Amino acid sequence: MHILNKKPENAGGLPRADWARCLLQLAGLAALSMAGPASFSDEPDGTPRAGAQRTAITVCGTCHGPQGNSTQPKFPRLAGQHAHYLAAQLKAFRSQTRGDPDAVGYMWGMAGELDDASIEALAGYFAEQKAEPSSGRRDSTLVAHGREIYEQGIASQGVPACSSCHGPDAHGLQDFPRLAGQHAQYILKQLASFQSNMRNVAIMHGVAQNLHLADMQSVAAYLEAQP
Ligand code: HEC
Ligand code: HEC
Repeated sequence: MHILNKKPENAGGLPRADWARCLLQLAGLAALSMAGPASFSDEPDGTPRAGAQRTAITVCGTCHGPQGNSTQPKFPRLAGQHAHYLAAQLKAFRSQTRGDPDAVGYMWGMAGELDDASIEALAGYFAEQKAEPSSGRRDSTLVAHGREIYEQGIASQGVPACSSCHGPDAHGLQDFPRLAGQHAQYILKQLASFQSNMRNVAIMHGVAQNLHLADMQSVAAYLEAQP
């Protein structure tokens, strides 16, 4: 599991103590997977659901928050995200097709250990958690500009309205992810990754290809502020 070889200096903002804790949890997951691909249905002491919940809280939760409401902008919020979308992303990490550097560094190793049933169970756990609104100071000019882009797109740059796929309230649907309350920094980074095709998804490349950095910052600020 190559994530175990990462040095603490590469942890990108995670305090040392957290990293030590994280590595211990990861070692636990690695041990779980020694006998073959991790499957919660193999656990003698619980149902797949209980196994998924335990892993979600003790392993995934060290970065994403135990209920999926991560407070560190590097780690996306998973609470209330659609199970279908979450499962698709875990499979994209496992097959190494979602390839921006943080996906490679943090999630390829994690997802490489999971079988389909475990992926479904983990996705189900996070989808069921209540998404907490994010807190923090807002730049109202940025948010207002972001709202315009979200609801109307930018006709002169050929950018479609985000709401047409992600929904008027940014709560998404099935394969269209929920964006409301997501960390602005994470959203910004994903938009840049779609634009450069590091995260290679045709539909979002089309949307992001003509977005300027300032547009991305605005729409990210708007989305983070949504409940
Ligand atoms: C050491 C920290 C860490 C741990 C532990 C971790 N993740 Fe992640 N996860 C990340 C980072 C960082 C990203 C963002 C990757 C990127 O920027 O592309 C991510 C992204 C994701 C995404 C994509 C979210 C989206 O909105 O597209 C899913 C789903 C996910 N992780 C699920 C899990 C699950 C399930 C576990 C436990 C088995 C887990 N993660 C454990 C750091 C972690
Ligand atoms: C034509 C439909 C469509 C439109 C319009 C659209 N999106 Fe998306 N978006 C998607 C799909 C589908 C995905 C999931 C991609 C994947 O499977 O990896 C996505 C993913 C994303 C993600 C990644 C979320 C995560 O958790 O990693 C962000 C951020 C995003 N879109 C922002 C936007 C913004 C901002 C706009 C408007 C400027 C927009 N989208 C317009 C379809 C759309």
